[in-house]
Amino acid sequence: MSRVAYVNGSYRPMAEACVNIEDRGYQFADGVYEVIAVHGGGPVDEEGHLARLERSLAELQIAPPMSMGALRLVMRQVARRNHVENGMIYLQITRGVAPRNHAFPEHSLSSCVITAKRMPTPDPEHVSKGVAVIIIPDIRWRRRDIKSISLLPNCLAKQQAADAGAYEAWMMDENGLITEGAASNAWIVTNDGELVTREADFSILNGITRLALIRLAAEQEILFSERPFSREEAVSAREAFISSSTSLIKPVTAIDGEPVAGGRVGPVCRKLIAAYAAHMAGQRAAEG
Ligand code: PDD
Repeated sequence: MSRVAYVNGSYRPMAEACVNIEDRGYQFADGVYEVIAVHGGGPVDEEGHLARLERSLAELQIAPPMSMGALRLVMRQVARRNHVENGMIYLQITRGVAPRNHAFPEHSLSSCVITAKRMPTPDPEHVSKGVAVIIIPDIRWRRRDIKSISLLPNCLAKQQAADAGAYEAWMMDENGLITEGAASNAWIVTNDGELVTREADFSILNGITRLALIRLAAEQEILFSERPFSREEAVSAREAFISSSTSLIKPVTAIDGEPVAGGRVGPVCRKLIAAYAAHMAGQRAAEG
């Protein structure tokens, strides 16, 4: 089956989908993006993703290419045309095409690209055995709350993880506190049974999966604290896991080569995996 992409107003076969070489996304990474999980043929937590997208655009003074309502329709159309029942939608908006000059162009039309692809349901091996993470310094800029397409430090971090045989890299600020993963949010359960993730200020991306998990943890009456945690707390945690729209919730069973939680998946993590699966299924039931 050939894939179809939406590019600036038209649906094109993937091989013919292209952008101008003077697009500021290509030249300066001057743009933002969203990755939205598709479950049962529909987007997961669409409201949250579109609200974050609007915020990212506003922070960078990039004009939305169309209304959020229209964007919603196009996203669904792209998922449908690519026969995506379970997978993801990728959406990227840049400041548009202009002769190369760092300052914003006076007139430019925002560019918009949307793709969708099927993805297998999460690897059962990852869910039952967990994944390994490494901890490295966070070398990113100071506005990590904006979902910018400028992801070079994240790519370097992921590659460092891959080279070390790990799934994800957790990044650490100058105070020795974990910020987040290269493409996910970081969580631990302390030895007092407290679920912890860093508060969403400028230092991390406020994950939409993260926000859903905070609500679900409250429903499950899990003791929760929104605060930074150190490398030491992470390595001695009772449980650890990551969350994102593509990884969903993956238990972490090793950090820097040392087993965490005795190398097993803990009960809080299992509870949240089940609650999140029900949350995704519930959205389709509510629509249908
Ligand atoms: N990344 N932190 C970072 C740096 C991320 O890149 C992501 C997601 C998250 C989790 O956000 P959410 O729960 O909204 O997916 C946290 C996406 C999946 C990506 O870049 O592919």
